[in-house]
Amino acid sequence: MAEPSTTPADTSRAVQLESFGGPENLRVRRTPAPQAGPGRIRVRVTAAGLNPMDWFMTSDADTAARFGLSLPCGFGTDFAGTVDQVGAGVRGFAVGDRVFGGALSRSIADHVVVDEAGTIAVGGEAHRTPDGVDDRTAATLAIAGRTAAAALAVVEPGPGDAVLIGGAGGGVGVFAVQLARRAGARVIGTGSATSADALRALGAEPVAYGDGLADRVRALAPDGITAAVDLHGTDTAHVARELGVPDARITTIAAQLDGITPANGAAAPRGALDEIAELVAAEELRVPIAAHFPVEQVRAAVELQAGRHVHGKVVVDL
Ligand SMILES: NC(=O)c1ccc[n+]([C@@H]2O[C@H](COP(=O)([O-])OP(=O)(O)OC[C@H]3O[C@@H](n4cnc5c(N)ncnc54)[C@H](OP(=O)(O)O)[C@@H]3O)[C@@H](O)[C@H]2O)c1
Repeated sequence: MAEPSTTPADTSRAVQLESFGGPENLRVRRTPAPQAGPGRIRVRVTAAGLNPMDWFMTSDADTAARFGLSLPCGFGTDFAGTVDQVGAGVRGFAVGDRVFGGALSRSIADHVVVDEAGTIAVGGEAHRTPDGVDDRTAATLAIAGRTAAAALAVVEPGPGDAVLIGGAGGGVGVFAVQLARRAGARVIGTGSATSADALRALGAEPVAYGDGLADRVRALAPDGITAAVDLHGTDTAHVARELGVPDARITTIAAQLDGITPANGAAAPRGALDEIAELVAAEELRVPIAAHFPVEQVRAAVELQAGRHVHGKVVVDL
């Protein structure tokens, strides 16, 4: 499936699908390098972080259509790299700036063009990568970091809180756990037995998900939990209700539940993503990279991510 890895300036390798479906549909194609029009910048991408939305959005034609995607379709959303072309009228970025951000389902490519002031969903977006943050790490921040910030903005953890976080070792979980701890809360994080050490390293007290979760949480926190963030489905949210947490202090990111306010990365507090990047630069927040793959192995990278038992983030290198 791979094409040559050298990239003349006027061509670009891009991961594409010619039919929607699983990772077997992913191909590395050589395409004309996109050009930065007015108000846009072109980024030479060096790393692209994976998220479940990448394979979910492209899993079938109906789902893809809901996200405005059509064939041939790009793949991946998070990216990091260096600006290598600036369109007319751009004031905020210059060639050579290190940037990270998101471009919906087109980030795993040598070159990505994004708006100077866009959003992930419309036009794409870029932020400056602080010194001290490498590109692989920067490429994990946009979706997971913002989503964690959005979820915590709903439940507002603080000192005196005991927060139950479901799916705490995953891509969003690693940010949510650390941000809740920084806010002064105690964090109990659900995971399988394989996640326990990783959760402890992030500052969470691990508890196994599955049948009996409520009893295990009661044993760990006899005084009760005060807030909950469900990053996997609805199990954690249901257990939180059972343990007496009011609906206003429960949120979900991966499912809807009547009476519970869901959180969406697009609704993260303004500036949250840049703050997270600065925390990473200051080594006050750590992003575990579970694995990284060369772009020629993008299918293996997606298969690993889609297994849903990753601890931290999976990154594709370009
Ligand atoms: N609303 C939004 O804006 C938004 C944004 C980003 C993501 N999401 C959604 O949020 C979910 C999480 O995203 P992510 O990037 O964190 O995914 P992820 O990295 O794939 O999550 C993997 C984690 O899920 C845990 N897990 C697996 N089965 C579980 C279970 N039954 N109960 C609790 N945890 C379980 C795994 O723990 P073990 O390895 O220990 O099993 C693993 O650490 C996805 O469904 C994603 O689509 C929503």
